[in-house]
Amino acid sequence: MMTKSSAPGKIILFGEHAVVYGRPALAIPVTQVHADVDVSDSSRAGIWIDAPDVNLHAELNTLPSDHPIASVIHNFLFLSRVSKFPNLEIKINSTIPVASGLGSGAAVTVALTRALAAHLDYSITDEEVNAFTYEIEKLHHGTPSGIDNTVVTYAKPVYFIKHPPSPDRKGAGGEVETFKVGQPFTIVIADTGISAPTKESVSDVRRLWMNDKSRWETVFDKIGEISFTARRAIEAGKPELLGELMNENHALLQKLTVSSLELDRLVETARNAGALGSKLSGGGRGGNMIALVKPKIAEAVSLSLKEAGAKNTIITQVL
Ligand code: PMV
Repeated sequence: MMTKSSAPGKIILFGEHAVVYGRPALAIPVTQVHADVDVSDSSRAGIWIDAPDVNLHAELNTLPSDHPIASVIHNFLFLSRVSKFPNLEIKINSTIPVASGLGSGAAVTVALTRALAAHLDYSITDEEVNAFTYEIEKLHHGTPSGIDNTVVTYAKPVYFIKHPPSPDRKGAGGEVETFKVGQPFTIVIADTGISAPTKESVSDVRRLWMNDKSRWETVFDKIGEISFTARRAIEAGKPELLGELMNENHALLQKLTVSSLELDRLVETARNAGALGSKLSGGGRGGNMIALVKPKIAEAVSLSLKEAGAKNTIITQVL
């Protein structure tokens, strides 16, 4: 018997960093890239993991327990209370670039959790997958807001507001609202090719905030208003309004010191190539930027971004 599961990548449209301070953020699934997991019964003793993208071919118990993939399986074992796992063969493939803000870790966890649950007849709801993935994200990424696991679990655009920290709060990190897209729109995503740990930019922003809370709270408020307005524009079927909101959001992220020369160059390039607006996306300092485009110029904008140094681009439609 073989059980398969797949989960998409994601990208943040608005609200990164401010989301850590309780302001809303918007994110969408990116289905052009995905993590795919196959779980099958095996005649070989043990639980064998085959993840060629990260050069991993190993039996579970030979891996350190905090290994990102091993920790998902161990924690799932604990959650499902399966006393003894059968012999399994687990194949993990992902086309989501690692550490570039496309949610690769969350997607592997979601797909692996669902594939294991289905294979072992353990019934699990989306809410439980989301909460479980949030716990795994916390093991590897410090204090994530919860937006990654949420958008990847539901595979729909989400409007997300983080819960205030509380030791006894269970769940996936925040309030999630899915919303309707009034009219489809097109986004070009471009990767600077520079991997920049989100943890670092998040802690740099924290340092700024600690030194002058009222100044940075005002910036977070402005970003929160942008997310709120953007959601209304998307629901009302007026995606063209998102361009200016992206430009404003990018300027505020520059103030927060999380942009970089490379990101700024790609953001400018997209605008000069006819995009309606553009901004960095995710933790910043590297990783990805996004641009809102009319569908007919998507290819041209993508080409300009590559000429300006983007390592990879994805054109995605938000439906
Ligand atoms: O770099 P990404 O796409 O994983 O996004 C990070 C988003 C932040 O708001 C900076 C941090 C967070 O946990 O939400």
